[in-house]
Amino acid sequence: MAPAAQPVAFVTGASSGIGRALAVRLAQEGYAVGLAARRAERLREVAGDVGDYHGAASVHECDVSDSEQVSKAVAACRLALGPIDLLVANAGVGAVASATDLDAEDVSRILAVNFMGAVHAVECVLPEMLRRGSGHLVAIASLAGLNGMPQRAAYCASKAAMIAFFESLRMELRPAGVAVTVVNPGFVRTEMTVDDGRPRPFIMDVDSAAEHIWRAISARRVSAAFPWQLAPAAMLARALPRSAYDWLVRRLFRPPRGRPPA
Ligand SMILES: NC(=O)c1ccc[n+]([C@@H]2O[C@H](COP(=O)([O-])OP(=O)(O)OC[C@H]3O[C@@H](n4cnc5c(N)ncnc54)[C@H](OP(=O)(O)O)[C@@H]3O)[C@@H](O)[C@H]2O)c1
Repeated sequence: MAPAAQPVAFVTGASSGIGRALAVRLAQEGYAVGLAARRAERLREVAGDVGDYHGAASVHECDVSDSEQVSKAVAACRLALGPIDLLVANAGVGAVASATDLDAEDVSRILAVNFMGAVHAVECVLPEMLRRGSGHLVAIASLAGLNGMPQRAAYCASKAAMIAFFESLRMELRPAGVAVTVVNPGFVRTEMTVDDGRPRPFIMDVDSAAEHIWRAISARRVSAAFPWQLAPAAMLARALPRSAYDWLVRRLFRPPRGRPPA
């Protein structure tokens, strides 16, 4: 009997942080992994790590904000590894900016990567999943998408858009055999959260985050949020009167004594 084909995952933003850790975790679970991001050299390193677990990997240099590049990357992954069973839309950029410096072009750039980047990837993998009557779309959104936060208007908006978009897809795609999981991490120690002195309560390491995400994927959960110290509070905060929420944010994100507010 021929051995069962490896399931194939396509992970965007696989060159560092959560995407990198998750790609390796998926390889440990027997996935062949298509690795996409702009830094090809870093992707080749990740492919080496994936190879340590005898997993097949393919490297796809692409900017997710460019739909043509994403389309070529997905086609190349399919050719190299086979039909894509799992998409992890993870590529993203952080953004801290004061409302007084608002620049619509900057906001548009953040949305183009964090939100449209995910949409481009879904557009490329979904038709085949629908034809096959199976597949899994995973969005790495953020707890920051559940409520607004000072100095993170564009970032919060991009993640709120992701949550609403994938939640809408989920209801529509379930009868067609395509699962959708929205993951909302709290703070995770990655290049995005380099220590700049900003308070990041309950920050967790990247391997623990990847483990949480893997558990949500393997159970085909509709959503996952972590860490436990922050996620329930962020979800409950949605129901708070906005003045109470503002007070809570001021307390949680108060800069350390002696440091001026960023
Ligand atoms: N760290 C946290 O606290 C945290 C919390 C909640 C949610 N998240 C989300 O988790 C995801 C991963 O972030 P991370 O924390 O792991 O940060 P990270 O280490 O900076 O990783 C970001 C990844 O996205 C890729 N990327 C950025 N712009 C891209 C573009 N235009 N096209 C293709 N790839 C692009 C980067 O690769 P290249 O630079 O090589 O392109 C990199 O692989 C993001 O969506 C982020 O919003 C992070």
